[in-house]
Amino acid sequence: MHDLDDLYQEVIMDHNRRPRNFRRPEDANRKVEGFNPLCGDQLTLYLVVKDDLISDVGFQAVGCAISKASASMLTESVKGISVGDAEKVFAEFRSMITQEDFDPDVLGDAELLQGVSRYPARIKCATLSWHALNSALTDDEAHIVTTE
Ligand code: FES
Repeated sequence: MHDLDDLYQEVIMDHNRRPRNFRRPEDANRKVEGFNPLCGDQLTLYLVVKDDLISDVGFQAVGCAISKASASMLTESVKGISVGDAEKVFAEFRSMITQEDFDPDVLGDAELLQGVSRYPARIKCATLSWHALNSALTDDEAHIVTTE
């Protein structure tokens, strides 16, 4: 089990070191800022939504390793799928992090963050970008969400 934990840790740290989609897509038409007032970390999530499809997604962030890795994993999970499917991905992630039953197949690498649910202090780090996603899916006005 230790080897598996090490592997998970390695994948998470790789997402932190080389975050995927760490950019602002030029044609982004949805933008949500996420803010964790406990630590001051912040993140901006951008979506390009056309005809109900998330054709592109990116983020920029100043934050801890978990928050950056989680955002990186999020972008890979929702890029190229419909808004409705992205809502399901969000729901599965929320179930996972609150230790409820979840479908790992839709989460991609984000499944590797399951262990974070055992550390209440880090849950807000992992969920920061996901709250921003949920907000961006339901509202096309630019705005700010916080983890509080
Ligand atoms: Fe601030 Fe993780 S310590 S989001």
